[in-house]
Amino acid sequence: MTKTSYWTVEELKNRLQSLPRVSLAPLPTPLEPLPRLSEEWQIRLFVKRDDLTGLAFGGNKVRHLEFSLAQALKEGCDVVINGAAIQSNYCRQTAAACARLGLRCALVLRQDPRVEPLKTEPQGNFLLDQILNADVRLISIDQDLEEAKEAVAQEYRSMGHKPFVLRHPISNVTGGFGYLVCLLEILEQSAQMGFFPDYIFVSSCTATQSGLIVGVKALGLPVKVIGVNPSHRMAPCHSHLAQVSNLVADALQLNLTFTEEDVINTDDFIGDGYGIPSPAGNRALLEVARKEGLLLDPIYTAKAMAALFHMVLTGEVPKGSRVVFIHTGGLPALFAYQPSLIAALAPSAALDR
Ligand SMILES: Cc1ncc(COP(=O)(O)O)c(C=O)c1O
Repeated sequence: MTKTSYWTVEELKNRLQSLPRVSLAPLPTPLEPLPRLSEEWQIRLFVKRDDLTGLAFGGNKVRHLEFSLAQALKEGCDVVINGAAIQSNYCRQTAAACARLGLRCALVLRQDPRVEPLKTEPQGNFLLDQILNADVRLISIDQDLEEAKEAVAQEYRSMGHKPFVLRHPISNVTGGFGYLVCLLEILEQSAQMGFFPDYIFVSSCTATQSGLIVGVKALGLPVKVIGVNPSHRMAPCHSHLAQVSNLVADALQLNLTFTEEDVINTDDFIGDGYGIPSPAGNRALLEVARKEGLLLDPIYTAKAMAALFHMVLTGEVPKGSRVVFIHTGGLPALFAYQPSLIAALAPSAALDR
């Protein structure tokens, strides 16, 4: 179907309803004001609590998994294979979702010698993966992750199982569906609270931001979605985000085309690299904890919050703006990065108390 005008919320909801989906998260997640930071930064700041998506400390990937694991169940798969960094939130949420659905989960976890929580004792997400009974395989940073996942899938096939491998594009496209759902929640909740957002901030370089981008363009909304990239590996990620957005829009038959022009995403807050806390991120983490009692994680959301603070300071986000910050979760990593957080505590404790 071709369409010259914008889509409506109802039409998007109907498209989403036609997709296989399994309920994993208590939705909608809350949209909460952050009054003290709003006053300090002279903006109206709200947080979308996707750290409260339920399963095993929550996070953005629970929304992704509602769609991808529905597909796994539809195909009659009995084991789900995922893989990423050793402190991956995605992998921990996959293990939890599999436990909830009675599926087996195998995780290929990559160790990066530059990243702090390399020690072999389980901690943070790596500990939770094991509590959740995932079949954990460790690989080194030089090994090819996709090949390693395929090798595990082959192993399971040879034992008579039917594996479902989470990888691009299925993983990203279903993530896009999940964040289109999130955008529709934000619109409904902000309308009920009497405002319309000027900006949505999110830590992302793939699926999460693409769902928001697709929704904003489909509905023709005057809201800027600012993605904050957590990783040099995908930097700059504009063309990747446009590609994923096209796949999401095609899967929903929205007849929309995305180019790099549709994407706002910054690489300026990665710091030394993926999985390495940054000084600006740690400062933002402490600021939000101490002013609002809200915990961020050091790898994703703290860096995204540092981006927002910076853009308010420089005027890129003007005073008076209404800003929704999506808290994408990641909290178990707090317990895997003690050295850098303890180091961050020292000077600011002296200044702030
Ligand atoms: C806490 C957290 N925030 C943000 C992201 C980024 O999501 P994506 O780039 O897949 O959209 C991730 C990815 O794993 C994450 O764990």
